[in-house]
Amino acid sequence: MKLLVCGGAGFIGSNFVRARVGEHGDEVTVLDKLTYAGRKENLQDVEHRFVHGAIEDPSAVADAIAGVDAVVNFAAETHVDRSISEPDAFVRTHALGTFVLLEAAREHSLRYLQVSTDEVYGSIESGSFTEESPLEPSSPYSATKTGADLLVQSYSRTFDLETVICRGSNNYGPYQYPEKLIPLMILNAIHGDPLPVYGDGQQVRNWLHVSDFCAGIGHVLAHGTSGEVYNVGGPDECVNLEVVERIIALTGADESLLTYVDDRPGHDRRYSLGSEKVKALGWEAKVRFEEGLAETVAWYQENTWWWEPIRSGDYREYYERQYGSSLG
Ligand code: NAD
Ligand code: TYD
Repeated sequence: MKLLVCGGAGFIGSNFVRARVGEHGDEVTVLDKLTYAGRKENLQDVEHRFVHGAIEDPSAVADAIAGVDAVVNFAAETHVDRSISEPDAFVRTHALGTFVLLEAAREHSLRYLQVSTDEVYGSIESGSFTEESPLEPSSPYSATKTGADLLVQSYSRTFDLETVICRGSNNYGPYQYPEKLIPLMILNAIHGDPLPVYGDGQQVRNWLHVSDFCAGIGHVLAHGTSGEVYNVGGPDECVNLEVVERIIALTGADESLLTYVDDRPGHDRRYSLGSEKVKALGWEAKVRFEEGLAETVAWYQENTWWWEPIRSGDYREYYERQYGSSLG
């Protein structure tokens, strides 16, 4: 296949492109704005065509989309904490960007896959969300992702565009920017820095290895029914505090680094996704959390070339802004 992968220089996008080129022999064009989270280094070992531009820019999209068979859209602002402090880019990329891509897909009659998140459903105390669960997003991140999903569905219903939506649970694995829980804790543990746990640390996330999410997206791209939504959830849940304790054990860091800090406003307590629909397409998660977390810690320990420039760059400023006062 010839694929346009938007946001392909980010964490999940780059893992997806690597798998599609390496395992499926696809020809991939990546369209990416290269925000702080998008890095060409993430794809330095993968053959692809690269177009530098924003999904909300129709001329960049027109350049990137020429000659492809399908569009997979990962492009997004993805950090809940940044959506609280600076929501503007979330609205622009998710609402306007998705609209521009949908228009281009419509003009070229292309199959369109939107990468979405379990956060559109909000928090669930027990049990799991299905694709029929109501949409009750809590943060500007999840609210704008929800808006994008609804726009995608409107293009299916109104214009008969072939669309599918994949809602993933929390991903982890190689190349994840260290603002997110797991890589942040791994790098802080390696450096002997405090490990900032929000609130009581009893929030629950449904962890999905990035290779499993990429495989699920591939299944839905190939076999998903147009107009449908597919949840892709991880095989294991874990309380945040336990995630941090496991990272302490895997890195040999000192327990005393664990530091409770102020909770995130509007913090969702628990996410859990039922994935029966995508399992019926033949997908199943392969990586259990215990094994995947150990591999991920080892990847960060071995790939200092990848994160050293991040930790010494703009990330420092973000980190000070986000944690400075609470970590003293
Ligand atoms: P990421 O932040 O690592 O990467 C996002 C990529 O999109 C970056 O390369 C960035 O440069 C690019 N981008 C941002 N705005 C853009 C724009 N306007 N135009 C073009 N490119 C732009 O994010 P990620 O964790 O890889 O997430 C990818 C997708 O998966 C997102 O849509 C996210 O909502 C979804 N998702 C993520 C998770 C998770 O746990 N990380 C879980 C479920 C779903
Ligand atoms: P995060 O990786 O930001 O993903 P999301 O908010 O999209 O689920 O956070 C995962 C969980 O970890 C969430 O409950 C917030 C918590 N968390 C901390 O306790 N400390 C931190 O420094 C970060 C970044 C997250």
